[in-house]
Amino acid sequence: MAGRILNFGSLNIDRVYRVEHFVRPGETIASKGYQCFPGGKGLNQSIAAARAGARVFHAGTVGADGDFLIKLLSESGADVRYVRKKDGITGHALIQVSDAGENCIILYPGANFDNDTAYMEQVLSGFSAGDILMLQNEISNLSWLLERGRKKGMRIMLNPSPMDGALAEMDLTGIAWLMLNETEGGALTGEGEPEAILRTLLSRLPGTQVILTLGKDGAMLGDGKKILRQPCFPVKTVDTTAAGDTFTGYFAAAILENADPADALRLASAAAALAVSEAGAAVSIPVRERVEAFLKAGPHG
Ligand code: RIB
Repeated sequence: MAGRILNFGSLNIDRVYRVEHFVRPGETIASKGYQCFPGGKGLNQSIAAARAGARVFHAGTVGADGDFLIKLLSESGADVRYVRKKDGITGHALIQVSDAGENCIILYPGANFDNDTAYMEQVLSGFSAGDILMLQNEISNLSWLLERGRKKGMRIMLNPSPMDGALAEMDLTGIAWLMLNETEGGALTGEGEPEAILRTLLSRLPGTQVILTLGKDGAMLGDGKKILRQPCFPVKTVDTTAAGDTFTGYFAAAILENADPADALRLASAAAALAVSEAGAAVSIPVRERVEAFLKAGPHG
């Protein structure tokens, strides 16, 4: 059977405010624009993997107002049979996007924190050793899932985002792929330089492939034997929201295709570049044909 991804992850409603600069303590500012988008690191990553062509199953919980998120996941090609709807509020994010395209985010977990272990166990029973278990840090019972996934022999891809104290304490051994940015890497290691972050994580987590995304400086991949570097594809930045999620979903899809790690990095970086050049999270994630055409069109910068 071809490889499968189970993504147990968040589903959010993103309320996006366009601002000249991020609001400062004590300051009130008027936003220049407002849009409501589908989002959530989990949903974004499933959509990216599905649009890349992977067989991805999403699991997670929405509230009464979350139907449109399930619909988008399904229309994008993800299998939604495990997504649950419960009474209560869907997780949501208040996002400021600056003129430079950068973002800052306040999360309200809502239904994302309603994922209990009985439900998780039921979903996991449909998967087996070798399947990819894709995880982020926006749902309840993450450490339980990590432990159960490891015991089942699933190949775990963890994006430790958003970073918090609980995650810093979690047992990350046995993870196949750790996908993180410089800030998250710095918080986990206390290091400031990308190469030092990578080497520290690799020495702590032997057997794990560590993929560090560096924004305009591209991405690095280390596996204990070699370090690969992928420059970023220069594009006009409109909104960086979900760039990392797009990268992760596309990277996972390339892994399922047994792509060479350098090719996986290149594909993921190209998809992330396209996502950055459009507004919104899930809606900015390109389909595979667009990414291939972009790569073919080179040279880039
Ligand atoms: O990574 C981007 C995502 O982070 C947004 O879609 C928002 O919902 C938050 O989860």
